[in-house]
Amino acid sequence: MTAQSATIVEVGPRDGFQMEKAFIPTDLKVRVIDLLSEAGLRSIEVTSFVSPKVIPQMADAAEVLGRITRRPGTTCKALVPNLKGAERALEAKADVLELVIVASESYNRRNVGMTVDQSIEGCAQIANAVGAKSIPLEVVIGTSFGCPIEGPVPETQVERIARAVAALGISRLSLADSIGAGNPAQVSRLVTRIKNALPGMPLSLHLHNTRGLGLANALAGFQAGVDTFDAGLGGLGGCPIFPGATGNVATEDMVNLFEEMGVSTGVNLDKVREASRLMQQFLDRPLPSYILRVGTASELYAKAALANVS
Ligand code: COA
Ligand code: ZN
Repeated sequence: MTAQSATIVEVGPRDGFQMEKAFIPTDLKVRVIDLLSEAGLRSIEVTSFVSPKVIPQMADAAEVLGRITRRPGTTCKALVPNLKGAERALEAKADVLELVIVASESYNRRNVGMTVDQSIEGCAQIANAVGAKSIPLEVVIGTSFGCPIEGPVPETQVERIARAVAALGISRLSLADSIGAGNPAQVSRLVTRIKNALPGMPLSLHLHNTRGLGLANALAGFQAGVDTFDAGLGGLGGCPIFPGATGNVATEDMVNLFEEMGVSTGVNLDKVREASRLMQQFLDRPLPSYILRVGTASELYAKAALANVS
């Protein structure tokens, strides 16, 4: 049986913003994140503590975390690539830390200059550091459904990393389709495999929409028993290593998918759209979210009635 509710995790302020060349003023970042938490998104990846030389957009990570409104019940997550990032995130008072380990060796090396096993060792160090402060650590397994450099990624490799990090006491595992290479059958198969390997481990999906399969992949994951999905406001973003990739499934589209199926998300679409419009204005280009452009089914009916469509 599938769940009656789904949790949408907003990752646009990290995954989306990091792809933007122009520096997004800290004031705007704070305003957008505050709108997203007002919208009822109970988990928001607000920033990353990576090298500011590599990703200058994230140079204001501590300031962003320090200035956003911390609503009770809203978890502010920060992505970290290594122990140094984890120490910075803890000092800035992130509620949850997320470590990315990319399943394919070449992509992981390109992303953080480490082998997969070095990243797993790093995970052990970070787990110790956060454990001492009782802060949850989540692990995202990047390129779980395919890699732009190596092509198909063996499910055995994803399972190996999942088992290794689960043994370190992490609190959630996320399977990421970093470039939007996966399909629904693949999502169903990998989710089932990881659920069987690690019963009881909370599981999320992080899906990019490069080939238009993002929502179908989310639905396949939901039907396979996942109830937590990353999404990015407006569908912002891409992949730093694969120029052809697009952003995450848009938050508006993910929320709408579930709400129209009668699965509650607790998210106010209007507030999310307000945040997306602010970003659209700043970036001066239309964002790819369908709901931002077209609207929900009931909005569509209302428009049709106004236009006297018969
Ligand atoms: N935050 C800030 N500075 C960091 C850092 C972090 N998390 N980790 C390392 N550094 C600093 C070091 O202190 C060192 O500074 P110095 O030159 O002033 O001495 C410098 O960066 C180089 O350190 P090194 O350990 O050699 O790192 P690197 O240059 O190999 O870079 C990463 C490694 C992981 C920091 C870098 O590749 C990175 O930030 N990657 C993240 C990429 C990303 O965000 N991808 C998208 C999300 S998955
Ligand atoms: Zn991503």
